[in-house]
Amino acid sequence: MISNDSIRMEKLCYSVGGRRILENFDFQLDRGVNRTILGISGAGKTTILKLLLGLLEPNSGTVSIGNLCITGLPESGFMQQRKQIAIVFQGGALFDSMTVGENVGYRLFEEGHLSQAEISKIVLEKLGFVGVEAALDLYPAELSGGMKKRVAIARALAADPDYIFFDEPTTGLDPIGVYNICNLMQRLQAEGKTTLMVTHDLATAFATSQRFTFLHDAQMLFEGSEEEMRCSTIPEVIEFLSPTERSLFV
Ligand SMILES: Nc1ncnc2c1ncn2[C@@H]1O[C@H](COP(=O)(O)OP(=O)(O)OP(=O)(O)O)[C@@H](O)[C@H]1O
Ligand SMILES: [Mg+2]
Repeated sequence: MISNDSIRMEKLCYSVGGRRILENFDFQLDRGVNRTILGISGAGKTTILKLLLGLLEPNSGTVSIGNLCITGLPESGFMQQRKQIAIVFQGGALFDSMTVGENVGYRLFEEGHLSQAEISKIVLEKLGFVGVEAALDLYPAELSGGMKKRVAIARALAADPDYIFFDEPTTGLDPIGVYNICNLMQRLQAEGKTTLMVTHDLATAFATSQRFTFLHDAQMLFEGSEEEMRCSTIPEVIEFLSPTERSLFV
């Protein structure tokens, strides 16, 4: 059954540069069910997030946020729905010319609904949540990779979204950095946020999600729980979970 709170893609096809990235792809993110989409580099994971946010238009098929089908609508037609979703981009995508505080408050400032004092309070609260409030006046170039990721998460949290998309949040971090991000995701989930992560980091996926989708060759090759994934007999899933020497030549 489709819940009204879900974000969905149905029979979605998407090609770029003559290459088929998604073929009749169905996906559903229900509120409260934290998911991870797994797949090798270049499989189309970031593309799925962009399609779900309405940043890319599919060739065919639809994307819906709650009751509204956003496919074919101008961005102004789904602003309210879009505001429920925040994304932590692969690499953070912080504005280099702005301080950490300005980065985190940017969206609220642009919206123009809140006073500077109210925005500053939210910025400090979100930076405190991710544990980098001391970086308030620093510029992105002055931060470590792990701090940048945490600031990017604080920025995503600023508008208090219900759903948070994470694009490879642990790539390039040391084990403590990975632990910190997992811990942050778990705390957000405990606060009632729904997370959707795309990654090839299995440990983070299993630590933070209940359902897993494996994207391979434009198709959803597997969908299920961790246990079901570990018991899967699909050769590509087995290879992904335990790469062998053969993987080197894929
Ligand atoms: N603007 C573009 N023009 C041409 N090809 C593109 C464009 N954007 C993405 N692609 C291709 O689409 C495919 C999917 O890209 P995508 O970024 O979604 O992969 P990914 O699974 O997120 O990879 P990674 O794990 O490396 O981040 C890749 O093969 C990429 O080269
Ligand atoms: Mg990507």
